[in-house]
Formats: sequence, C-alpha cells, structure tokens
Amino acid sequence: MHKFSFYQLKNIAEDFGIDSYKKSKPDLYQMILKHFSDEEREITPTQRKCIYKKIKQIGKGGTDSTVYLTKKGNKEYVMKTFPSTIKKADIKKEVQNQLLAKGLSPKVIDFDYNDRYIIMEKMDTHVVDYITKNKGKFPLKHQKRLIEIFTALDNNDIYQSDPNILNYMLKDDKIFMIDFGMSKPINKSLIKKMGTDKPNMKYTLLSFICKLKEGNCDPKSYSHLIKYVN
Ligand SMILES: Nc1ncnc2c1ncn2[C@@H]1O[C@H](COP(=O)(O)OP(=O)(O)O)[C@@H](O)[C@H]1O
Ligand SMILES: [Mg+2]
Repeated sequence: MHKFSFYQLKNIAEDFGIDSYKKSKPDLYQMILKHFSDEEREITPTQRKCIYKKIKQIGKGGTDSTVYLTKKGNKEYVMKTFPSTIKKADIKKEVQNQLLAKGLSPKVIDFDYNDRYIIMEKMDTHVVDYITKNKGKFPLKHQKRLIEIFTALDNNDIYQSDPNILNYMLKDDKIFMIDFGMSKPINKSLIKKMGTDKPNMKYTLLSFICKLKEGNCDPKSYSHLIKYVN
C-alpha cells in the first residue's frame, strides 16, 4: 500500500465505482481488495474474459503481446493478451500504471494477472494515421493535450519510456497513450539516472517532436510543443 499515494488509491477506487469520500487510506485499500475478491467469487476471470467475443486481431506490438478487437453485446472493446514469457509482475505493473493514468489512457474495464489479459476501451485511430490524413498537420489543441498528458504522467510518477509513436491514439478527437508496457515509476533512482523528476516533459516530449520532424510535418505541428523543450 505504501507504494501508492492517497490520491492514486482514490483514483483506482473511483475506477471501480467505490465511493472514496471521507475514507482513510487503509480503508480505501481494503475496499479495493474486497472489490476484487467479490467479483472473483461470482464469476472467474476466465469466464469474464469469455464474455468478450474476439472479432479479429488488431495489433501485434513490439512486445509479445497480442491485441484483439472484441465485442460485448453491441459494444466494442480491446483485449490485450500476454504470453507466458511475460512475467506476472510486468503485467501487473502495466495494468497498475494504466489505471493510474486514468483519463490519459484507455479506460481499463477488466484484467487478470493469471489469465494474462486487459480489457480496455477501444481507441479510434493512430495519431500517425490522423496526421497523414490531415496532410502533415498536427493542430494546436492536440499539442496542448500532449503537454497535459506528459505533465500529468510526471505528476503521477509514471514515466512512459516507450518512444513508439504508435502508442499515441485518438478517441473522439482526443489523444490518449495506449501502452504502459515500458512504463517505469518515477522514483529516486530514476530521477538520479535521468537528471530530472519530469522525464515525460523532458524526454518523451522530445522524442515525439523528433518523430514529427522525421515525418516532415509542417513546423507549426510542433511549434507549441517546442516551447516546452529546454
Ligand atoms: N485501446 C486500444 N484501442 C485500439 N487499438 C489498440 C488499443 N490498444 C492497442 N491497440 C492496437 O494494438 C497495437 C499494439 O498494442 P500495444 O499496447 O502498443 O502493444 P505492445 O506492448 O505490444 O506494443 C497498437 O499499436 C494498436 O494498433
Ligand atoms: Mg506499443
């Protein structure tokens, strides 16, 4: 529990619909744990996973994970699955960081470390495809949103160290970061190693700008972002 701040626990509790008003940190922690066991008592994770019908495979990322488009009723969701070569602790870290990055990443609907899956909200398009369609232009509102994302990740102590531009997607014309597989906690040793306590604003931002430059985007596409580079 000491790993999470009170604020972070409140965010996780909210994700599970737990009322966090006037609850102490240990109370919240117990309620989150209880939520898991309650759900597991009613229906096993394997049964929960089967509710989501696989439509097709949509992504095979840099890691060994496999991503599927699924349907529950009429609604589409994304299922990310992990092979046994990926350690349970790594799946846990990915899920926890995606939960902490609430509002900045696809909403986590369900997950299980033993069954090795995450069910999440489906995004519409990759940012790269959007930019290509938009003739190399990346409007100011999206640049502002990226700054909001990097600042919030820094404030939540999550470093998104994966520079792959395919990890940026849009839903309803708003940017989200989809992949926390290579995310790291911003702790003392990371701060010392990277020389900053704001690694997303320093490095993740810079690598995004580089990708736009490499793609010969209109310079206006990063003119706002570049103001934050020092
Ligand atoms: N929530 C999502 N909505 C839509 N597509 C997704 C979503 N999550 C992943 N994908 C697709 O699957 C690909 C791989 O997912 P990602 O989480 O980046 O896996 P990896 O860890 O293997 O890189 C993405 O590039 C994207 O095309
Ligand atoms: Mg990825």
